[in-house]
Amino acid sequence: MTTIRNQMLVVLMTLASSVSYRLNVRMGGFGRLSKPEPFTRDFTRPMEIPESGIEAAVKVMREGRLFRYSAKTPETSEVANAEKEFSELVQQKYAVGVNSCSSAIMLALMTVGVEAGDEVLTNGFTFTALPSTIMRLGAVPVLVECTSDWTMDLDDLELKASESNSKVLLLSHMRGKIADMDRVEAICEKHGMVLVEDCAHACGIQWDGRQVGNKAKVSAYSCQSDKVINAGEGGFVTTDDDEIAAKLIYLSGAYEKRWSKHLVHPPEEICEQMMMTMPNLSCRMSELTAAVMRPLIRNLEDRVGDYNRRWQSCVDVMEKFAGINCIVPRNHPRVRSVGDHLNFYVTGMTEEQNEVFAKTVRAMGVPVASFVSPVNARYHKNWRKFGAPAYELPKTDNILKFGYDLKMPPYFDDSDFPHVGACIAYSVNEALGGNSMENEVDADWVKSIIEPYSMDAPVEVVDITSPYLAPPKNETMTVMME
Ligand SMILES: Cc1ncc(COP(=O)(O)O)c(C=O)c1O
Repeated sequence: MTTIRNQMLVVLMTLASSVSYRLNVRMGGFGRLSKPEPFTRDFTRPMEIPESGIEAAVKVMREGRLFRYSAKTPETSEVANAEKEFSELVQQKYAVGVNSCSSAIMLALMTVGVEAGDEVLTNGFTFTALPSTIMRLGAVPVLVECTSDWTMDLDDLELKASESNSKVLLLSHMRGKIADMDRVEAICEKHGMVLVEDCAHACGIQWDGRQVGNKAKVSAYSCQSDKVINAGEGGFVTTDDDEIAAKLIYLSGAYEKRWSKHLVHPPEEICEQMMMTMPNLSCRMSELTAAVMRPLIRNLEDRVGDYNRRWQSCVDVMEKFAGINCIVPRNHPRVRSVGDHLNFYVTGMTEEQNEVFAKTVRAMGVPVASFVSPVNARYHKNWRKFGAPAYELPKTDNILKFGYDLKMPPYFDDSDFPHVGACIAYSVNEALGGNSMENEVDADWVKSIIEPYSMDAPVEVVDITSPYLAPPKNETMTVMME
């Protein structure tokens, strides 16, 4: 298709309903937005600890029993109770408390048999903890591309599963974006791979009404302050498998017969067997950590609605006023999301305009992070500094180059969220010269967005001369092209 300047291209994407959710570009937007007031609230402030958590932590300190195995009985251990409550929350038989999600991932990989020299498939777009932990075991990460809905590219996974010798897939639900889990399972089965899920960003997120993480042999969760359960540091490693649970308990630091201080543990004979074989890596959770997080485990389900309502109110404003120049990836319809972070990518911008956008929005008090900055820990090229293998991931780069990341602090008021959305939309339009409809869109960029959505349905491209078409229907995407 050739270049058509000053014409509108209406790309009628007769998307099958199974894929149309993903783009969900709302038309009828592109309105002019007067400059919002700068946003002045602090994005770095994490969620507060409920009073009951503070009281429980003070009690632990008064008694001096900070070490989980100092508790006289499992019933009086904060960690043992947190493990039980967390396992109930995520609907798994066992949850073992550890000092971080990175430790949880390490123990998970060890218990599924990862050894030095093994290849482990994982996301090319995730946090540095994943390649770091794989490499800590002397194993080698094999990086898989990312799609424009910000999930692992399952076509690339298929390819790399055939080409590599990986027997383990460490799948990261990065920023709570969930790949098609049926297909993930099918690929693992076909290639004889064990699935480990990194649910650091997926606590509370459901696939078919069930917490994600259940399809894996072992899963890992984070309770670091930026997550939906704030304990400062901490994590859980979960499984339904008795033998793996006993190994996890021992690896995490239950030396001698301390498995008996766990409220929920595998049968005694399995624990005794693992006691004789497993080393101790001392990555236990502290009683203080468990004390502050327990109320947040218990009330997570009540908080999900607030996260999502507020996220939506921000996104509505962005989509209304920045239209297709600001795309917010959506989860699969079988997913119940948790909107604790805002992720989006700007479209139709040159690299210079992208820089103007970032500068403008940050100057307005909204500190969006760019994934491709030279220090961003989520950019695969920055992992090369510690020896991670260099993979060319052009699809991932294309997404991340224009992608942004923003925490949505729970202490904000409801009205703050549309305000943040307005600052973003205003800055998008500002970068594009004030009115996004009069600007040019890079044809390759548009193609890269459209392609993943057009796999189930033909894309019909219609050239028209008037930009004042009747508003297209939901399944129609309108773009300006050069
Ligand atoms: C996707 C992802 N996985 C794992 C981790 C590791 O979590 P932790 O900081 O608890 O070790 C993080 C940390 O933020 C993360 O973003």
